Amino acid sequence: MTAAISCKGIKKSYGENENRIDALRGIDLDIPHGKLTLLVGPSGSGKTTLLSIITTILTPDEGQLFLLGQEMSQLHEKDRAVFCRNNLGIVFQSLFLIPTLTVAENVSLPLLVEGQPPDVALKGAMEVLKQMNIANRANVSPAILSKGQQQRVAIARAMVNDSKILVCDEPTSALDQAAGLGVMSLLHELATHKSKAVLVVTHDHRIFPYADSIINMNDGQIVQGEKHA
Ligand SMILES: Nc1ncnc2c1ncn2[C@@H]1O[C@H](COP(=O)(O)OP(=O)(O)OP(=O)(O)O)[C@@H](O)[C@H]1O
Ligand SMILES: [Mg+2]
Repeated sequence: MTAAISCKGIKKSYGENENRIDALRGIDLDIPHGKLTLLVGPSGSGKTTLLSIITTILTPDEGQLFLLGQEMSQLHEKDRAVFCRNNLGIVFQSLFLIPTLTVAENVSLPLLVEGQPPDVALKGAMEVLKQMNIANRANVSPAILSKGQQQRVAIARAMVNDSKILVCDEPTSALDQAAGLGVMSLLHELATHKSKAVLVVTHDHRIFPYADSIINMNDGQIVQGEKHA
């Protein structure tokens, strides 16, 4: 089966001449469907840069990125944006939930952007909130929820259009033990039972046991290949 995410010889530098930093020095990587994969490594090793390239926020200097077998540089900018909107769920470290909307309205946003009528979008939002065990908070502002609940809402919003790929940046770093493990078991369930490709950047050793595989980065490269949990 084609990998959900495939990086081939990806390089990325910031700055020029004596200020140049080689953030990624040739990344080859395949992330499969149906597995929870962790991306770990010391500060400055290139994790966020790699995540930004995988989510097409940054363009690589060299190499190719394939999402669901489609090479991203082959798509025009507008087509790439639509492709990512349909296939890629992203949960940023700062969750970007909108406090003046309810939880259900936040989660329905991607469906509204797709052009679905508001009542259909809200129904879709409620379904995914039920799956995330947070439907009882659908009508309040996300601002009054706990950090763990907010994380669930952000994951619900990323998954409401049934994206095949879910990418999360440090989803448990602000959570206590119980909430962190709850979010990880949700992500594991999305991978295992819904066949999503779930890629998580983390520093959090507590969640390593949930991973199907762990990719170690150091100084812009993958080290030790892939470690299986
Ligand atoms: N916008 C930028 N301009 C210049 N250098 C940058 C920029 N973003 C990152 N870097 C540099 O690129 C390297 C990789 O940074 P990156 O943010 O990808 O690391 P990281 O693994 O995500 O680190 P952390 O765990 O601290 O978040 C670092 O040396 C960093 O200083
Ligand atoms: Mg980072």
